[in-house]
Amino acid sequence: MVQVSDKQFDVFLSEEEILREVRSLAWRISEDYRDKEVLFIVLLNGAFMFAADLLKEIQVPAAVSFVKLSSYHGGTESSGKVQELIGLNETLEGKNVVIIEDIVDTGTTMDNLIPIVYEKLPASVKICTLLYKPEAFKGNFLPDYVGFSISNAFVVGYGLDYNGLGRNLKAIYQLKK
Ligand code: IMP
Ligand code: MG
Repeated sequence: MVQVSDKQFDVFLSEEEILREVRSLAWRISEDYRDKEVLFIVLLNGAFMFAADLLKEIQVPAAVSFVKLSSYHGGTESSGKVQELIGLNETLEGKNVVIIEDIVDTGTTMDNLIPIVYEKLPASVKICTLLYKPEAFKGNFLPDYVGFSISNAFVVGYGLDYNGLGRNLKAIYQLKK
């Protein structure tokens, strides 16, 4: 059990379980893009820890770019409002893009990001997310690589925050009922 801000959370995915799955995702991606160069677009802030562990295991030539696109501003429910995109400055033309996200919840973030990415004429675009909440999803772009499909309960840790806190936790915790 951990306390993050004013709420209590129970362990949901251990550090070992997460790292095992991250490694397996990296192997799948490396296999799928064998002999190709990939531009990984990391969605900050939530995906920073997942991206660091994933990228260490990637076996193809990898460029990395960090962007910010936020539909989420504290609390335990997605606001559904995307505010802005910062940091995507390089050309994507003809590149194989893999977007790295911490969690796909309603899908609103991807609905807002993907069209912006396609406008820049990449060769291909795929979404890699550590967590996916199928029951909450109502978007247009399903994630291509999913670490864990999880229930709708709010989670924190391993990059994910609650009220700005908890991103540094090594495991992933679920809100206590
Ligand atoms: P979407 O746009 O609804 O798919 O939500 C994606 C964003 O909402 C994620 O990148 C997270 O920042 C945030 N989010 C959704 N569910 C959770 C959760 O359970 N814990 C922490 N953040 C979440
Ligand atoms: Mg996020």
